[in-house]
Amino acid sequence: MTRSLQTEAFVVTGGAGAIGSRLVRRLLDGGAKHVVVVDDLTSGYRWLVPDDVRVEFRQQDVAELASSGPRLDSATVFHLAAFFANQNSVDHPLEDLHTNGQGTLAALLWARANQAGAFVYASAGCSIAGHGVDAPIREDMPVSLHLDTPYQITKALGEFYCNYFQASLTTVRCRFFNSYGPGEVPGAYRNVIPNFIWRALRDEPLIITGTGDETRDFIYVDDLAEGLVRAATSPAASGLAINLGTGIQTRILDLARMVIETCGSRSEIRFAERRAWDKSTHRQADISLAGKTLGFQPTVSVSEGVRRTVAWFRENFEQIERETAVRQGLGVGA
Ligand SMILES: NC(=O)c1ccc[n+]([C@@H]2O[C@H](COP(=O)([O-])OP(=O)(O)OC[C@H]3O[C@@H](n4cnc5c(N)ncnc54)[C@H](O)[C@@H]3O)[C@@H](O)[C@H]2O)c1
Repeated sequence: MTRSLQTEAFVVTGGAGAIGSRLVRRLLDGGAKHVVVVDDLTSGYRWLVPDDVRVEFRQQDVAELASSGPRLDSATVFHLAAFFANQNSVDHPLEDLHTNGQGTLAALLWARANQAGAFVYASAGCSIAGHGVDAPIREDMPVSLHLDTPYQITKALGEFYCNYFQASLTTVRCRFFNSYGPGEVPGAYRNVIPNFIWRALRDEPLIITGTGDETRDFIYVDDLAEGLVRAATSPAASGLAINLGTGIQTRILDLARMVIETCGSRSEIRFAERRAWDKSTHRQADISLAGKTLGFQPTVSVSEGVRRTVAWFRENFEQIERETAVRQGLGVGA
């Protein structure tokens, strides 16, 4: 049994971000009557938030939610606001702890005080399993005690807080694998796909930090948003950790070639040293629990997803160019 989207109000923290803004879109398309976006625009953009009378935008630090959050009875809360991601946290560990640690605790306290119907937490597959897990990652694998970036540590901390609140609040911990798609503006701390596309559209070299044989499980952002909605509306998901990926690995070198071909680019591929914290060679989600509990099945292949993402980049080229000029630097991974 699922709960209806049309009867509830929703809060999306981080709703001006890459995934949050697409989730807001999905909620509106599903008939949501009221969607409150809480975002301080650290890495999000106001123009990504859908322009719709049902959306209320609050520019606010999530860490303030416990003391000055809006009053909202029985809303479903999607907590996506985060200091993103590994490299950023290595460079700015205090900011990481503020948003991912204190911010998540504040969001949970606020959700409980407002009798939230459900609290869906954006966790990260990489943050739980740790390094050197080459087999498909299942939710029942032990949480690694060797997490070694501030981001991995604080994303796991958020899960522990969800466990603590589960006695008095319905929580679901969704473990995302690598998301990509329309809405992700490239930048030094952003993921590989938007940075590859941005460079390819400008015929600049695509830089792989590693050998190119590394693999990741890339999930198209709208598939991920669908999984989140299902997690929030499926009572069977309460209290669970659920992987949201595709179960398919893509080699980074194949991805680079695909992007170059899709963009019709003259870019060459270059290789650089792997970053010190990046110790995972392969990443693949086991998504059988999501299939069984949520009826979740991703629908967009990587080649189709890259095609749609390139189309979004072309449509928004000038806006993206302005944003990347402001927030400079184009690495290849989070
Ligand atoms: N993108 C991925 O591949 C991926 C993988 C695993 C997990 N996740 C998780 O998914 C969530 C969304 O990721 P994303 O890719 O959309 O990142 P994003 O950076 O685009 O979105 C995060 C949003 O949170 C906002 N934010 C940051 N600090 C804030 C604060 N203190 N108060 C209020 N808002 C704040 C940012 O402005 C931004 O809009 C994050 O929790 C991230 O950890 C993402």
